[in-house]
Amino acid sequence: MNKKRVLSGIRATGRLHLGNYLGAVKGMLELQTSNEYETYYMVADVHTITTPYDVEELRKNRREVILDYLAAGLDPEKSVIFQQSEVGEHLELAFYLSSVVTVAKMQHLPTFKDKVKQYPENVTLALLNYPALMAADILIYKGELVPVGIDQEPHLEVAREIARRFNQDYKTSFPEPKRFATSGEYVPSLTGEGKMSKSVAGSFINLTDSLDEIKSKIAKIPTDTGKGEIIEGGVKNLFEFVELFQGKEKRNELENQYKSEGVRYGDIKFELSEAIFNELKPIQEKRAEFESNPSLVDRIISEGNEKARQVARETIKEVRQKMGLS
Ligand code: TRP
Repeated sequence: MNKKRVLSGIRATGRLHLGNYLGAVKGMLELQTSNEYETYYMVADVHTITTPYDVEELRKNRREVILDYLAAGLDPEKSVIFQQSEVGEHLELAFYLSSVVTVAKMQHLPTFKDKVKQYPENVTLALLNYPALMAADILIYKGELVPVGIDQEPHLEVAREIARRFNQDYKTSFPEPKRFATSGEYVPSLTGEGKMSKSVAGSFINLTDSLDEIKSKIAKIPTDTGKGEIIEGGVKNLFEFVELFQGKEKRNELENQYKSEGVRYGDIKFELSEAIFNELKPIQEKRAEFESNPSLVDRIISEGNEKARQVARETIKEVRQKMGLS
């Protein structure tokens, strides 16, 4: 019996933060324990080179992300945990897939436009082709479900379009991958504006942050006098975090208080910081265990890479055949 496949990944730009954890990793964990799916989870180290990066940082981070995965509970007995760059077939398939998407289509993606704004001097072909590589990541495993944050929806739309076009043109049987959403699919920034992101300083809490670091970051969320009619900006984000870590009821309670007698941010921020740390503590303990056993981590990675390659090779063989390349 063939199980449906799941694929997801996170770029190797640093240690994972709460946005990655709630938006992607929690979904990965949920699917890994389901018997219906075979789960493939990678660090997207090749995607990292689509924007300016530091070579030594990348070398470090392509392992750090795996450590964070293991610490968060991704289990090599249940999931294939691997590094994208070690499975060269992803790149080969990305090139084949890029033959069915137009430059115009890629240029219009909001994710591309954002990066162009951020790095106007580095608008490369690799950046333009980012979504084709992501489509290849998923389709090479014939992945049907993709646990990622809502910001990735435009990329999944491209993956579906590519799958459709390819199936039409070459009689392949790629599924059209769907996003698997978690309740924390949108995690706000600590700055009070936009979403939590590694590329925005002061916006994130890392899974490895200590209680003191968390407290000082939460303390910086901009607030107001604590009382009013409309909840917006930093206060809205603060309440969003309360909901994510202390539940919907707690949030409702605070919102009502805000609109009547007023709230005290000192207390709210203290309790929230404790709640966040309580969730991260077991993850940090598990990370320390893996950190002290590097040969175990090496083995997990090399076995994962090999398992992924086996599936990827099969797909590439089929694609080459159908495209007239064998
Ligand atoms: N683009 C994703 C992000 O920035 C990372 C990624 C690369 C990915 N390839 C993927 C996510 C394949 C899911 C599936 O978060």
